[in-house]
Amino acid sequence: MKAVVLEKTCKANELEVSEVPIPEVKPDWVLVKVLGFGINRAEIVLRDYEADEDYIDLPVIPGIECVGEVVNPSNSRFDEGDIVVGLMGGMGRSFDGSYAEYALLPEKNLFKIPECVFGYLLMEEIISIPETYFTAFGSIKSLKLNKDDVILIRGATSAAGLSAMQLADAMGATVIATTRNEGKVANLLSNGANYVVIDDGNIEDKVKEICPDGVEKVLELVGPKTLQDSMNCLKKGGICCNTGILGGDEYISEFDPIKLIPNDRYLTSFFSNYPTQEIIDEMFMFIVENDIDPKIGKLFTDLEDIGHAHELMESNKAQGKIIFRLEK
Ligand SMILES: NC(=O)c1ccc[n+]([C@@H]2O[C@H](COP(=O)([O-])OP(=O)(O)OC[C@H]3O[C@@H](n4cnc5c(N)ncnc54)[C@H](OP(=O)(O)O)[C@@H]3O)[C@@H](O)[C@H]2O)c1
Repeated sequence: MKAVVLEKTCKANELEVSEVPIPEVKPDWVLVKVLGFGINRAEIVLRDYEADEDYIDLPVIPGIECVGEVVNPSNSRFDEGDIVVGLMGGMGRSFDGSYAEYALLPEKNLFKIPECVFGYLLMEEIISIPETYFTAFGSIKSLKLNKDDVILIRGATSAAGLSAMQLADAMGATVIATTRNEGKVANLLSNGANYVVIDDGNIEDKVKEICPDGVEKVLELVGPKTLQDSMNCLKKGGICCNTGILGGDEYISEFDPIKLIPNDRYLTSFFSNYPTQEIIDEMFMFIVENDIDPKIGKLFTDLEDIGHAHELMESNKAQGKIIFRLEK
């Protein structure tokens, strides 16, 4: 089969497709034909520097998510022909992932896609959903978002941000979206944002021009770099969910919770590593019932374009999910 095999950290244009054996089935693992997969920041990080860490077992086929067809269910609960989502739990890091024609995945990381989805969404739309919408959906649940809330989505032009905006809009919440780039304002407004704020790293005053007491909820996708400013945008009782690290900082040095978290404001987070069938079903049903139209930034169909896909993500120009559809 064709696969992208990462032997060491490298630049996007150094990624290569190789010919490798189709993995052999073993108990509790399921062989899946990869129908398609989305590109994620985590895979950029892996290629760029994380592959040098001890806990990454090189060589590895990257790819933390896919949509696939079960070709050999082994002893699992799945049947041959089931269309499934493969997601996280070490996929593409501690065992081979989805940048390949076939993937051998642990049963616990596979989830059936509800039947009703197939009559409603195109296959490329389904491929764009798993990691991005699961992250957006989980973050919105962590935030306990409801229809009367104003939510500030920081890093809103990201695939996760655009998805969260659609989910929040469908729930009836008011959305303030941020971007650093004036050229992306129209796209945000057409995707469900009620207001757009240009993010120069310090937006508390601009947000309080819209909501003088602050906002009920913040989805922080830029991360630790802007978290203090985001916490300052909250009104009393408000919650901030730190889900992303787009700003490049993964940690807050000398984290002082007493100063960082203002009185009567709350800090939470979301980590997509623990999907369950129940929440995957709930997420797909929400998308279908609310007529959500997944936003695809770029569709590739040839694995040889993997370097171009990574370069596009690094350019910040996609404005939606970058996906590969391998099967016609
Ligand atoms: N917690 C989890 O389990 C989990 C799961 C999935 C993803 N994530 C994280 O969620 C974030 C979004 O992922 P994604 O794949 O949706 O991203 P993406 O689509 O690649 O995001 C692209 C956007 O990122 C913004 N951006 C890039 N560098 C930035 C910087 N230095 N400061 C502020 N904004 C910057 C750009 O916005 P503008 O140019 O418009 O400003 C660009 O439009 C990432 O940090 C990812 O690691 C976390």
